[in-house]
Amino acid sequence: MEQLLFRTLPFLLLLVFLHSSQTLAQGPAAAPTTAPAPPAPVVAPAPPAPVAAPTPPAPAAAPIPPPPVAVPAPPVGAPSTGPTDVTKILQKAGQFVVFNRLLRATSEASQLYGQLNNTNNAYTIFAPTDNAFASLKSGTLNKLNDEEKTELVQFHIVPTYLTPSLFQTVSNPVSTQAGDSGPGRFQLNVTTVGTAVNLTSGLTNTSISGTVYTDGQLAIYQIDQVLLPLAIFGPKPPHAPAPAPADQGTKKKKSEADNSVSSAHGLSFAMQNVIFLGVISTLTAFCW
Ligand SMILES: *[C@@H]1O[C@H](CO)[C@@H](O)[C@H](O)[C@H]1NC(C)=O
Ligand SMILES: *[C@@H]1O[C@H](CO)[C@@H](O)[C@H](O)[C@H]1NC(C)=O
Ligand SMILES: *[C@@H]1O[C@H](CO)[C@@H](O)[C@H](O)[C@H]1NC(C)=O
Ligand SMILES: *[C@@H]1O[C@H](CO)[C@@H](O)[C@H](O)[C@H]1NC(C)=O
Repeated sequence: MEQLLFRTLPFLLLLVFLHSSQTLAQGPAAAPTTAPAPPAPVVAPAPPAPVAAPTPPAPAAAPIPPPPVAVPAPPVGAPSTGPTDVTKILQKAGQFVVFNRLLRATSEASQLYGQLNNTNNAYTIFAPTDNAFASLKSGTLNKLNDEEKTELVQFHIVPTYLTPSLFQTVSNPVSTQAGDSGPGRFQLNVTTVGTAVNLTSGLTNTSISGTVYTDGQLAIYQIDQVLLPLAIFGPKPPHAPAPAPADQGTKKKKSEADNSVSSAHGLSFAMQNVIFLGVISTLTAFCW
């Protein structure tokens, strides 16, 4: 037994030595391999790190569709070369000299120019042709004071972007820049039959007869009659004091009803948002 131990001891020692030397050898070997790495970082540690870092997140970013959704933004940003100039467009179109003159005289042109500089603003303009103005009873425009002229122009401007398909979904009366769309005021109603779009103010019936300009933010459509608002050209109410209070009563009721309708809309919209957020956070939880 002792003999065996003595005989094998050298071997064991040798094995231990070999093993440790191997480990040592490996150690230095491993060190050199890692050593080159440190030098490299010294040369350009910052650049490689950022490059490697974005790569892992990239796959994570890929499944997120919002960036593609943001792509539509460029078209909106496209007008950033400068606001759209309505008067230039109408001038180029040629047959809107009178309307263009009114736009400038009432400062509506410069207002639109400023508003269109903000890509969140959108407008639809119903531009009556020169023939439309020519067919008005003579003196119609001259009888108007400055305020009425402004209102007349504003009545032809809707502060939303309307396309032929959107015309089918608008609710009447449509709000114009002239404001108050109550009965007998600045009411503009849109009705569609197929692709035809009819407009009525209560005094004027006309329809869109052409597209002058559209860019996603601004739409200009040609109409062949001037839209005469009831508030300016309608029967004057002064000689009817009795029905006035009654009118006010119904008006109040109507606006109350409108309020409840819009708050109901607001509520369902808020609920949609909550549901949407819920879905988003669930998805996010899954993805992460
Ligand atoms: C448009 O808006 C930008 C920034 O909001 C402003 O710098 C620029 O002067 C505006 N241009 C016009 C023509 O109003
Ligand atoms: C639209 O106007 C045209 C004439 O311009 C008329 O024939 C048609 O009946 C109108 N449609 C509606 C729905 O008012
Ligand atoms: C416009 O439509 C509304 C709602 O249908 C209606 O109450 C109003 O009388 C209409 N006005 C005109 C001028 O056609
Ligand atoms: C406009 O059309 C309505 C029906 O759509 C009609 O009752 C009204 O008389 C018309 N008004 C004019 C001025 O043509």
